[in-house]
Amino acid sequence: MKVLVVGSGGREHALLWKAAQSPLVDRLYAAPGNAGMAALVELVPWNGDVEALAEWALAEGIDLTLVGPEAPLVEGIADAFLERGLRIFGPTQKAAMIEGSKAFAKGLMERYGIPTARYRVFQDPILALEYLEEVGVPIVIKESGLAAGKGVTVALDLHTAKQAVMNLLSGPEGGEVVVEEFLEGEEATVLALTDGETVLPLLPSQDHKRLLDGDRGPMTGGMGAVAPYPMDGATLRRVEEEILRPLIRGLRAEGVVYRGVIYAGLMLTREGPKVLEFNARFGDPEAQALLPLLHNDLVELALRVAEGRLRGTELAWREGASACVVLAAPGYPESPRRGIPLHVPEPPEAVLVFHAGTRREGGALVSAGGRVLNVVGLGRDLKEALDRAYAYVGQVGFPGALYRRDIGQKALRRA
Ligand code: AMP
Ligand code: GLY
Repeated sequence: MKVLVVGSGGREHALLWKAAQSPLVDRLYAAPGNAGMAALVELVPWNGDVEALAEWALAEGIDLTLVGPEAPLVEGIADAFLERGLRIFGPTQKAAMIEGSKAFAKGLMERYGIPTARYRVFQDPILALEYLEEVGVPIVIKESGLAAGKGVTVALDLHTAKQAVMNLLSGPEGGEVVVEEFLEGEEATVLALTDGETVLPLLPSQDHKRLLDGDRGPMTGGMGAVAPYPMDGATLRRVEEEILRPLIRGLRAEGVVYRGVIYAGLMLTREGPKVLEFNARFGDPEAQALLPLLHNDLVELALRVAEGRLRGTELAWREGASACVVLAAPGYPESPRRGIPLHVPEPPEAVLVFHAGTRREGGALVSAGGRVLNVVGLGRDLKEALDRAYAYVGQVGFPGALYRRDIGQKALRRA
């Protein structure tokens, strides 16, 4: 089979690495890929036009496409492939609205009784400001559309809350914000494969969204992840029964068959798990931590999803744990510096390195984005996984590299 991976981050490098292990694959491609992926496969130049990529895939005879990031999904890459009779792992544009519009996702959760923070949606800044006065702080302000994980303000004072609303709504094109109740608890991620009928949760994992140790500093796309996150069986069942299944059933009831992976970003509150956000794709960096633990053939799983044959499938996981540490460029997330020379020695046993924002300049490897490298350690337990990851981080660090020293500490305390 000819298999294409779409995207250029650490998540996509991990997907490609895992797909490359499948005996079903004869030829692999990545569009547009990064320097790390170029070491595994041939890169396909791509400017983000989903129709053009579908035409290329048709001409090339691609048998299966796996989509990493949200932007092409929200733009309808799955629709463009399906219209041409091409198999694709990733939801259609309508289904990807669970991520593309927070207002849509909130409405869906309300209609199907999925536990989440109470909320209101505003387009009018005056009404939004009045509402803030009325409910007070702490409060959470979210940009409704895609914002690469950075459109959220957790406001502890009214001034910050109002400023966030004005930033989002006072522009010339207007906009839409979701204002929602502040939830307290620990955060965790549960991803699930689904063909629109069967829902198959992956191991729980945990991201680290803030830039700095101790969950301080600005929101980022994610600075590290661990898996499995120690979630008790009863909570995991509630996530399945109260969140994942109702979401897929609800979408189906509204005529939308969701095929791909769903990402439930959760707050584990005293009342139980509640949804912070849904995404229409694997998490980044959750995928980098999870995929090395998965025994199943990823390509076989993706085929089952794409063809609606997931029922009866069982997932098998390696014993032990995994930890991913993200190295970001200085200036991330605001204005990451590009062109920094990178030195990436061959990792030792039980350590993997997935590239994100990297490219070749002449013969040299340089930084080309915010999140630059992902170091994944595997171990018999989380402690060993973390020790291995951090030992190698010490060898790859580049000038000014930003990374958290406390990845996995919350999970260790909980376990
Ligand atoms: P989101 O992109 O919606 O997941 O939000 C990004 C981050 O903001 C989450 O990972 C949480 O850390 C935080 N956050 C979002 N919504 C809430 C909420 N209702 N209460 C507390 N924290 C939140
Ligand atoms: N790690 C957060 C995300 O992928 O949205």
